Amino acid sequence: MQDKAIKSASATGQKTHIRELSINFEQWYTVARSTEVQSQPRAVILWHRAIVLFRDSAGKINALEDRCPHRQVKLSHGKIKGDLIECAYHGWRLNASGECAEVDYLAENQKLPNCKIRSYPVKEQNGFIWLFPGDATQAEKTNLLDLPEWEHLNYIATVSVIDCQTHYSFLIENLMDMYHGHLHEDLQAWANPVLDTLAEDEHQVTARYQAQSYYKIDKIWSISQLFFKSLRKLHPEPLDVSYVYPHWVSTLGNDFKIYCLVCPVSETATRAYLIHFTSLNAFWRLHKLPVWFRKFIKDSCFGAAQKLLDGLVRQDVLMIEEEQQAFLQNSERKSYELNRALGSVQKLMRSQAENG
Ligand code: FES
Ligand SMILES: [Fe+2]
Repeated sequence: MQDKAIKSASATGQKTHIRELSINFEQWYTVARSTEVQSQPRAVILWHRAIVLFRDSAGKINALEDRCPHRQVKLSHGKIKGDLIECAYHGWRLNASGECAEVDYLAENQKLPNCKIRSYPVKEQNGFIWLFPGDATQAEKTNLLDLPEWEHLNYIATVSVIDCQTHYSFLIENLMDMYHGHLHEDLQAWANPVLDTLAEDEHQVTARYQAQSYYKIDKIWSISQLFFKSLRKLHPEPLDVSYVYPHWVSTLGNDFKIYCLVCPVSETATRAYLIHFTSLNAFWRLHKLPVWFRKFIKDSCFGAAQKLLDGLVRQDVLMIEEEQQAFLQNSERKSYELNRALGSVQKLMRSQAENG
């Protein structure tokens, strides 16, 4: 397995290239949006591990390795039957622990096969499915990233899916280096960043930039700035970006918060979810409105920043996929870096992957 390869590489003194680092398995990863797992099993891949997600009759989410113990085909081709998942091939049914629970053609003198596939700790929280690929006994002791804005009535969410053919390090470095605002100039995301402070420990790196924002959410019509450039005006705002391993969080002033929830697939593929929250906190009388009305506003404005967010993602993915290709073609070529935040980010990735 990849994690073993990393350990043996460090035992022999070789240093794994940052673009080939494994992951820390003792963390919670986002493997799907809640809405992506409905009445059918769903196949996902988390760092080379094929996993099937399915809901039981009460809607509770379960995760098993995506492999029927009978003939090793993918369980995700099958169906959900009550609390069990039924393989498409011969119809064996497995329970949430990965044990064979029912086989229709069992002869009278036959017992159920004593086979078990791996099940994973899995949780559904804040609109996403989170999975813990490491030692299951550590799952409950390990925090998963909280997104309090997801349920809060004062925040409007937009989600953009990132599917990129790159190692996760290219994506994280893109998100931590705010000097790449240059790339998004036409979308007016932020301007003139200057790295101010850098804080790091063994779990996270936070870079604070002083920057300029185009958006200010302080009038009832402010949200229309997301659609009309002419309503935007530059003003200074602190721009904080944090790599809270393995995910990313950013705030731009008081009005915007963005999360990037990461699912590393392989050395050359990453899936991630970018979640943008527009805050309505500036409207201090909001709490006087009836909850049903606030919920209606929250739900009907869901996706308000979709065009902006998808545009940012498209531009970023093009760049980081080119970086990946360049690395694959010539891994020896030296790159030059001016942003000291990236050194800290790479250090954190390495220590999490190798010692986590
Ligand atoms: S391969 Fe799954 S039931 Fe036979
Ligand atoms: Fe970007």
